[in-house]
Amino acid sequence: MSTSSNDIKTTVGIIGAGPAGLLLARLLLRAGIESVVIEAKDREYVEQRQRAGILEQGTVDVLREAGAHERMDKEGLVHDGVEFLFNKKRYPLHFPTLTGGRSVMIYAQTEVCKDLISLQLKEGGPLLFETKALGVDGANTPNPSIRFERKDGSTGTIHADYVVACDGYWGVGREAIPKELCQDYERTYPFSWLGILADVPPSNDELIYARHPRGFALLSMRSPTVSRYYLQVPAGTDAKDWSDEQIWDELEKRCETTDGWKVQRGPITQKSVTPMRSFVHEPMAYGSLFLAGDAAHIVPPTGAKGLNLAVGDVVTVARALKHKVQTGSDDLLRAYSETCLQRVWQAERFSYDMTNLLHTDPNATPFEDKLQIARLQRIVSTPSAETDLALAYTGFPL
Ligand code: FAD
Ligand code: DHB
Repeated sequence: MSTSSNDIKTTVGIIGAGPAGLLLARLLLRAGIESVVIEAKDREYVEQRQRAGILEQGTVDVLREAGAHERMDKEGLVHDGVEFLFNKKRYPLHFPTLTGGRSVMIYAQTEVCKDLISLQLKEGGPLLFETKALGVDGANTPNPSIRFERKDGSTGTIHADYVVACDGYWGVGREAIPKELCQDYERTYPFSWLGILADVPPSNDELIYARHPRGFALLSMRSPTVSRYYLQVPAGTDAKDWSDEQIWDELEKRCETTDGWKVQRGPITQKSVTPMRSFVHEPMAYGSLFLAGDAAHIVPPTGAKGLNLAVGDVVTVARALKHKVQTGSDDLLRAYSETCLQRVWQAERFSYDMTNLLHTDPNATPFEDKLQIARLQRIVSTPSAETDLALAYTGFPL
C-alpha cells in the first residue's frame, strides 16, 4: 500500500467497518493480500451499535480460523437450543441431538467488532474512521477507485484492484452497478422490534421465541448478568413511547406460562426500535466491485441470520481473491454473486418463515391465527420439522 496525503493505492479497497468489512480485512491479511478499510462513523459508534447476538457454528469456526477468537472463547455463551412458547407452554429444541452436534454461540456483534478493530489496528492495514465513501468509479474496469471525504472536509481517492462494498443497506457501493443490470427484491412488514438491554440475569437458560395473541416476544441475553429482550411493536413505533414498566408488563404477558415461570425484571439500560425488512439486490458483483453483507441483502432479525450471512459473503470473496492471487484464475470471483445468492435466498426463506410463524399480523383472520398455531404445533411435535428448523438455525454450510 502507498499513501500520499489522501491518494491511496492498495489491492482491495473496503468500504465499511461493520462485521463484514472488518472480517474481510482480517481474512485478506491472513492470505497476504493488502487492503484499506474506510468507515464513515467513529470507532466508538461502531463498537457500541447494538445489533446481532447469535453466531452460527460456521461463523464461530471462521472467527477462530481468523485468530479473532480469544475473548469470544472466554466470554461467549454456547447454546444448545432454543425454546418456543405458545399457548402458555414451552417447547425446547435441542440442536446437537437434531443436527449431529451443532450449536450456536451468544457473543454480541459489538464484541466481534471490538475484537476485529483491535486486531486490525495492531496487525493489519489502514482502518480509517470518519472517512466516508462518496462513490465508486470504474467498477467495471481493472482499476476501480473509491472517492472519499474525511471529517475535516478534505477529499481523496483509493485506487485499488478490487473494491468490496461492505457499507450496509444505506451505503453507496450498490449505486456503482448500472440500474439496468440490477433487480431488487423487497418486502417490508407492518411491525418492528422494540429491543432492550437490561442489567438482570437472563430469566431462562435458553433463548425463548414466544408467540402470543398480543404479539411476538424474544428473550435473549448478552452475558450471565445482562439480558437482551425484544417485543413486536407496530411499524413506526418510537421507543420513547414505551415506559420501562410497560415493557416489563408486556414481556410478562406475552411470556406467561402455566408452570409458574416468570420473566425477571431489572434496570433497562438501552431501548431502540428496529424496522423489519427482507431485501435482496442482484447481482452482488459488477466487474471489480463486490457487495457483501447488508449492502446486498437484509433479513428480518427473527432467526438471527444477518451477521452470519455477512460472514458467509466475506469468506467467499476472500477465498476468491486468494485463488486469483495464487493461481491467476478469476473463476471464483466471477462465480461470487451466484455462489452467495444461493445461501442468501435460503436465509431469506428461513427468516421470512420464522417471522410469519411467530408474529401476529393485525390483519390476520381467526382462521389464519389457528393455522399459525397449527404450524408451531407441527414443528414441536414432528422430528423432521424440528430437524429442518434446527439445521437452518445453526447455519447453512459456508
Ligand atoms: P453493517 O453492520 O451495517 O456495517 C456497515 C458499515 O458501513 C457501518 O459501519 C456504516 O457506518 C458503514 N458505512 C455505510 N456507508 C458508508 C460510506 N458511505 N462510507 C464508509 N462507511 C460507510 N444478525 C445475526 O446474524 N444475528 C443476530 O442475532 C442479529 N440480530 C439483530 C438484531 C437487531 C436488532 C438488528 C438491527 C440486526 C440484527 N442482525 C442479526 C443483523 C446484523 O446486525 C447485520 O446483518 C450486520 O450488522 C451486517 O453487517 P455488515 O457489516 O454487512 O453491515
Ligand atoms: C438475538 C437476535 C435475534 O434476531 C435472534 O433471533 C436471536 C437473538 C439477539 O440479539 O440476541
